[in-house]
Amino acid sequence: MQTLAKRVEQIAPFQVMAVMERAKHLQAAGEDVIHLEVGEPDFTAPEVVNEAGIAAIREGRTGYTAATGLPELRQAISEFYLERYKVQVAPERIVVTPGASGALLLLSSLMAEVGSEVLMPDPCYPCNRHFLLQVGAQARMLECLSEHNFEIDLDSLASHWQAQTTGLWLASPANPTGSVLAKDYVVKAWDIVQQQGGHMLVDEIYQGLVFEGEDFTALSVSDDIFVVNSFSKYFAMTGWRLGWIVVPEWAIEGATKLAQNLFISAPSIAQYAALRAFQPDVLAECEQRRQTLAERRMTLLKGLEKLGLPIASAPQGAFYVYVDVSSITTDAMQWCLALLEQEFVALTPGADFGMKDAHKYVRFAYTCDCQRIEQALERIARFIQA
Ligand SMILES: Cc1ncc(COP(=O)(O)O)c(C=O)c1O
Repeated sequence: MQTLAKRVEQIAPFQVMAVMERAKHLQAAGEDVIHLEVGEPDFTAPEVVNEAGIAAIREGRTGYTAATGLPELRQAISEFYLERYKVQVAPERIVVTPGASGALLLLSSLMAEVGSEVLMPDPCYPCNRHFLLQVGAQARMLECLSEHNFEIDLDSLASHWQAQTTGLWLASPANPTGSVLAKDYVVKAWDIVQQQGGHMLVDEIYQGLVFEGEDFTALSVSDDIFVVNSFSKYFAMTGWRLGWIVVPEWAIEGATKLAQNLFISAPSIAQYAALRAFQPDVLAECEQRRQTLAERRMTLLKGLEKLGLPIASAPQGAFYVYVDVSSITTDAMQWCLALLEQEFVALTPGADFGMKDAHKYVRFAYTCDCQRIEQALERIARFIQA
């Protein structure tokens, strides 16, 4: 009898899949489902970016590229860091990957030993801990409180560091909380991690989608911090599967070997398309979309307050609000399913993102327009009162 590798058992399926499947089913049956569960807004890649991808196909630029990415794309990313964030990042330190997912997998292989442990916030992006499991390591999640912006308490961080701990993974803006870290926080965290001799990753996949606080990169704090990014969110290119990782100089050779072996290269068509993304017209369009998201954020936050579900600290970035629903239910997953069944509003249960208190939370993604968000809020109000 053939069996699956044991590590597969340790990987929890996403609870949101049950919600999404049911939502699809209801929609197919003609119901008007409002989708606030998915991690991608209702924007597509900017049209000129699409055209650049089509041109790459027509011109036959469809083969493998260098394992670390097209030199001109690494150059464009480097220039973007300089222009927008005033940080010098040598193109050689940038490795283009199949999405931030590819970057996180690469980083797990690069920095986590078998049996080692990486600290990260609870709640956080669920795939992080699964990527670590793939390489025989694991995540230790540190409880984060809403009243502290869902940030790891840095005063106690060192006390969590054990012999097997090798690093700290953070994200800013974060999924599912929308929290944006302050630069001082990153400086302090890096200080502690350095004292412990560990590595630090900051996942900046929602970079640029900041509504309050400073939009900066952790690369401005140190060249030795690993930074992950992607074209998925700011550039709305989720399906193009393109991201990157910035590594310290001493890690370039190791990261290159892994990129060669894990992926051969990131998708060439997506890379040619992404080259177009850093032009001023596309950046202006992305800024316009950020403003659209800012309006949606306010609509949702005001609406939640009216529903009696106020947010302890308003999320400063990304396109998520992580909401404590414990005043109305003891089981957020069941609540999500019942809401979908009765009012056709799809949300993501907190259990996908964390352990402690996750059953109290749901994540709203403000991925549809204000009118739809208001409609969703009306339906939720009716559901709560029923
Ligand atoms: C925090 C975070 N990191 C990484 C990813 C993976 O993104 P992608 O592989 O599409 O670049 C996501 C996707 O939602 C995310 O929220």
